[in-house]
Amino acid sequence: MERCYKHPMATNIGIDLISFHIPSYVLDLSVLADIRGVDPNKFVIGIGQERMAIVPPDQDIVTLAANAALPILERAGRDNIELLLFATESGIDQSKAASLFCHELLGLPASCRCLEVKEACYAATASLRMAAAMVAARPGSRALVLAADIARYDLASPGEPTQGAGAVAMLVSANPRVMALDPESGFYAEDIMDFWRPNYREEALVDGQYSTRMYLSTLIEAWNRYKAASGRGLADHAHFCFHLPFTKIAYKSFERLCRAEGAPRPEPEELERLIAPALRYNRQTGNTYTACVFEALCSLMDDPPAPLDGQRVGMFSYGSGCMAEFFSGVIQPGHREHLFTDAHRGQLEDRVPVTYRQYEDIFNYGVPTDGADHIFAPYRGGPFRLAGIKDHKRRYEPR
Ligand code: CAA
Repeated sequence: MERCYKHPMATNIGIDLISFHIPSYVLDLSVLADIRGVDPNKFVIGIGQERMAIVPPDQDIVTLAANAALPILERAGRDNIELLLFATESGIDQSKAASLFCHELLGLPASCRCLEVKEACYAATASLRMAAAMVAARPGSRALVLAADIARYDLASPGEPTQGAGAVAMLVSANPRVMALDPESGFYAEDIMDFWRPNYREEALVDGQYSTRMYLSTLIEAWNRYKAASGRGLADHAHFCFHLPFTKIAYKSFERLCRAEGAPRPEPEELERLIAPALRYNRQTGNTYTACVFEALCSLMDDPPAPLDGQRVGMFSYGSGCMAEFFSGVIQPGHREHLFTDAHRGQLEDRVPVTYRQYEDIFNYGVPTDGADHIFAPYRGGPFRLAGIKDHKRRYEPR
């Protein structure tokens, strides 16, 4: 018996505002290909990546997330935000939730539950659904969902060209201006070791080919449950946003869905229309883990091939370990005037390229782990930065 799920949402609930933030430095993957002695087409065509975001030492998940959230709060205010969920797999503390640092930086009300949520790249989707449930249960309340990650693999490993970083912030409310979530959702859990990061490691461990196979097989599991719950088929969705460890996987995913549905293999023009618009940003940032699928949504909405008002978007979230969920939402009429398109594009255009040597230096930059004082030199970045560490405590400041 298939299990399916209908969210208890009385009214339209979903993403009222969404904003993303990326670091101000970037490595072109042709530089990496040259150093590693790899054909650049393996990166550009084989996995579908062009550049990776480089995080300077004075940025971490807290500053990336706070930088993503600030424009939302400046526009929508802070009233009635009763929940702040921080989804990440790049945690900076084993105990304290990263959301509490952001709560302070962002000036949120004291009557606000602050939590950090973890299940690899899936945690932001779970947070969004939990935030929507809270809004449904407490009419008039709002929630802020933050998703921020820094994807790190060993130097010269197969995962290296898929590294990236970024953050997405989403304000969740009733009568949302951007996307109303459909109540139905299909999810799937299984205990596997495809990608993980033990507490003593800075870099993830991964069985890359196995993780890709699991991503694709759990997509079908989650889709089948979503389909059973909603009665919808592929044609009921104007676009699809997939979790993007690398963008090529979106094409594999849609082809796999078509095969599972007995639909003909999609034509290139169909893929360009349904899939490609959501991939543009990720090709330039690399894997943003928890933020990926929502970064894909921003990419689609910021430059859609046709107006999206009233259109349904299918979304697939995968977290290694593993959790998968297929869900959907309807883009709201008039949403375009509530997007942060110019700010998103500006960040992508204004990045400073780094050399291979600078990339490796930043990768290997180590901060003291014995509580010794450490001051971070200022780099380019958003409104908040990590200023220093003293007595094992991180100190953030406005720029
Ligand atoms: N020109 C064009 N294409 C080329 C090429 C060239 N010169 N050389 C190779 N290719 C193609 C290959 O044919 C292959 O294409 P197909 O997949 O369509 O067959 C593609 O480039 C990749 O080549 P390989 O499979 O040989 O690549 P690899 O094994 O070195 O690395 C990877 C690929 C396993 C995905 C690796 O990047 C990796 O380990 N990534 C990290 C793990 C990951 O992203 N997993 C995804 C699912 S898990 C998840 O989603 C959670 C998460 O965020 C991590």
